[in-house]
Amino acid sequence: MADSKIWYPFTPLSANLVPQKVVGGSGARLRLADGRELIDAISSWWVNLHGHGHPAIAEAIAEQARTLEHVIFAGFTHEPAERLAGLLAEALPPGLDRVFYSDNGSTAVEVALKVAWQYWRNRGEARRDRIVAFDGAYHGDTFGAMSAGARSTFSAPFEPLLFAVDRAPWPHTWDGDAQVETKEAAALDWLRQAFERHPDGYAACILEPLVQGAGGMRMVRPAFVARAVRLAREFGVLVIFDEVMTGFGRTGERFAFERVGEAPDLLCLSKGITGGFLPLAVTVVRDTVQAAFDSPDPVHTLWHGHSYTANPLGCAAAVASWALTEAALPVVRAFEARHRDLLRRFQPRADRIRVCGTIVAMDVPGRPGGYHDPVGPALRQAFLDDGVLLRPLGDTVYAMPPYCMTDAELEAVYATITRRLAAL
Ligand SMILES: Cc1ncc(COP(=O)(O)O)c(C=O)c1O
Repeated sequence: MADSKIWYPFTPLSANLVPQKVVGGSGARLRLADGRELIDAISSWWVNLHGHGHPAIAEAIAEQARTLEHVIFAGFTHEPAERLAGLLAEALPPGLDRVFYSDNGSTAVEVALKVAWQYWRNRGEARRDRIVAFDGAYHGDTFGAMSAGARSTFSAPFEPLLFAVDRAPWPHTWDGDAQVETKEAAALDWLRQAFERHPDGYAACILEPLVQGAGGMRMVRPAFVARAVRLAREFGVLVIFDEVMTGFGRTGERFAFERVGEAPDLLCLSKGITGGFLPLAVTVVRDTVQAAFDSPDPVHTLWHGHSYTANPLGCAAAVASWALTEAALPVVRAFEARHRDLLRRFQPRADRIRVCGTIVAMDVPGRPGGYHDPVGPALRQAFLDDGVLLRPLGDTVYAMPPYCMTDAELEAVYATITRRLAAL
């Protein structure tokens, strides 16, 4: 690994890992160069919704590539970007309909933070200079996203460069958690006190609704998120939902905010947006927020964009994936019951079992916990040996399958989890 020409992400050089070479994919399966097949139980990097190589998305990209592969998105527009923005605007609540394109989850978050921050400055309310985020959050690897995310070994070298945020407790819960109400009350109390201490001081509140992903699949109840949002609104604070991971069906509805029953002012989407084919992201902004940027003063413009902003191939993939997601909604809505049924049948020996839509997670018993727990890589290798791609987050084992996964494949995923946890 140390002498590879490629510098791989999230991979310590000292581990000398030899990456598995993938030569193809179809449905929930990946084909390796050595002839073996893996069941992809984490949708690649939480991006794949409808299976690898889905022909409808592949064809939409090919068709678009023959028509228009790219054009500068300042002063020009194109059909796939307009169609995708139209689909989102139609599906989202009235007013939440201004679509700003970028390339990945981190940039979707950067844009949201910049828009929220500049919104108050454009309105002459610069005293709103505080941001509230949550314990355990992960919003990406760029500087703003790192600042909003929980501090960790990922961000430690950059600590002096990160801006400060106020960090609210996240009342993470699981099946049979007797403390959930106490934890929720404490978190809401924390928020109220913070807002009361600085009644005109907060610009924005950012959170991953229902499930904190990289922080360890830490789930909260929809009613908690709804109450947190209402509290933020009471104090005029803009609400940013980072649905980079939870969007497009992951939590059992199109978007997690539908289960919450409260829509945000800014919505960050990426990952599943193209069905896992191409990098693309959007930050959807409420029209009333965008209105603060409509000014002849150049300082009030959002001077932000990327070379591949609204890339036509990505937008075409997203339009095709949207149609597939609509058709898959019954499967998505039934996924939680499938997980529950399999948990009953397999009874994996684990702590803090939790399910949200298509996501199931559990913790290895008796571990100190944390991302760097060596049980994670050991289990990952054991699962690979059983032909299943699972990538525990330290002591947290989770599955996030593509929606096309068959019952037999899902049973194989539960079988390896159960067997390997029992063998520890
Ligand atoms: C909730 C959330 N936000 C943002 C990101 C960053 O996305 P990306 O890796 O595409 O930059 C992630 C990635 O895991 C995420 O889960």
